[in-house]
Amino acid sequence: MLSIGLFLIICSLRVLAQHGTAHYREYFYVGYSYVPQGDSSIAHGQVYVEHLTPASGTLKKYPVLFVHGAGMTGTNFLNTPDGRPGWADWFLSQGYEVYLVDQPARGRSPWQQNVDGPQVMFDSTTVSQLFTATQLLNLWPNATLHTQWPGNGTVGDPIFDQFYASMVPLLSTDSESGQKNQHALTALLDKIGEVILITHSQSALFGWPLADARPSFVKAIVTIEPGGPPFIGDTLSPNTPMHPWGLSEVPITYDPPITNPSELQTANDTEGRLPGYTCILQKEPSRKWINLLDIPVLTVTSESSWHGIFDDCTVDFLRQVGLEVDFVRLQDVGIHGNGHMMFMERNSDEIVEKVVGKWIDKKSSER
Ligand SMILES: *[C@@H]1O[C@H](CO)[C@@H](O)[C@H](O)[C@H]1NC(C)=O
Ligand SMILES: *[C@@H]1O[C@H](CO)[C@@H](O)[C@H](O)[C@H]1NC(C)=O
Ligand SMILES: *[C@@H]1O[C@H](CO)[C@@H](O)[C@H](O)[C@H]1NC(C)=O
Repeated sequence: MLSIGLFLIICSLRVLAQHGTAHYREYFYVGYSYVPQGDSSIAHGQVYVEHLTPASGTLKKYPVLFVHGAGMTGTNFLNTPDGRPGWADWFLSQGYEVYLVDQPARGRSPWQQNVDGPQVMFDSTTVSQLFTATQLLNLWPNATLHTQWPGNGTVGDPIFDQFYASMVPLLSTDSESGQKNQHALTALLDKIGEVILITHSQSALFGWPLADARPSFVKAIVTIEPGGPPFIGDTLSPNTPMHPWGLSEVPITYDPPITNPSELQTANDTEGRLPGYTCILQKEPSRKWINLLDIPVLTVTSESSWHGIFDDCTVDFLRQVGLEVDFVRLQDVGIHGNGHMMFMERNSDEIVEKVVGKWIDKKSSER
């Protein structure tokens, strides 16, 4: 009996050692309402929230809230597809409480037929092309510099297969996703209070309107390769009008105020921009995101992603609306070979330690 007990203790210590920081876990749902179904009802609009608290030590002042990008869920930040601790673990190890959501109508947040709009799903080829094996497909400048994805990034590779199997369908329009995220995540902030918000890719489009709705609860925003550039599709869908409010599909408060986004005066900013998209900024004097002016922003872009082409335009727009933005291209701080899913790649710990976590520590202590 004793030796079995000891064996179990040793096994569980091993699990802790391999899978990161000891913590407590709870989950809950917020943002739901009941909608009629026949003579009964179904719950709709809610987000799944996973709340992790370090098992010991002094807690940091603000928790970190992760909102994942398109096709993904909160699992993105738990462990990496090759079984290493994820960014959530790093923050737990530093004393941060962590919240992870699955966006509404996605993953563990139920999609309700006849209530939610249609869904789309990324196929495996697209995922290899955009995220995991860009070096093989070479669709944009720097795609071949990608070296940090673990494994070969295509079907049949066990690490790719784990990653791809974790992906889920998403609502097909950013405007529906934007409205539903703003509703449910506002309800989340009303429940949990102040946070440091970390968005990735698509969810950046939802982070700005969330901060607009609850500016006092968002102490800082980290945006990893944010959805953009302003007003138009990126190099993957060039010349397609998008994000009419600048960097979102849902209304955001401007000063001087506008009631319709067509009131924004824009101009193409071509000087020094890379080809493949149009950088559209406001005409000066530009209107400001009046509610977000006190929220510091960090934008992080990898060396080999297609975001390297246009994230500077997104950052320029954010600065124009009055935000203080630190913009880090990973190669400029000696971190090479990453792509769009940098928080899962071989050097994910280095990125969080040297760039994202360091910045959050600094901003949290200033606020
Ligand atoms: C990736 O690895 C898998 C498993 O070994 C293999 O089946 C597949 O052909 C490899 N793909 C490429 C592009 O090398
Ligand atoms: C600005 O860019 C858009 C999109 O590429 C294009 O349709 C439009 O003609 C450009 N406007 C000017 C004034 O160059
Ligand atoms: C491509 O990589 C080089 C070398 O790190 C870097 O100087 C350049 O800014 C990158 N270009 C893009 C579009 O990301």
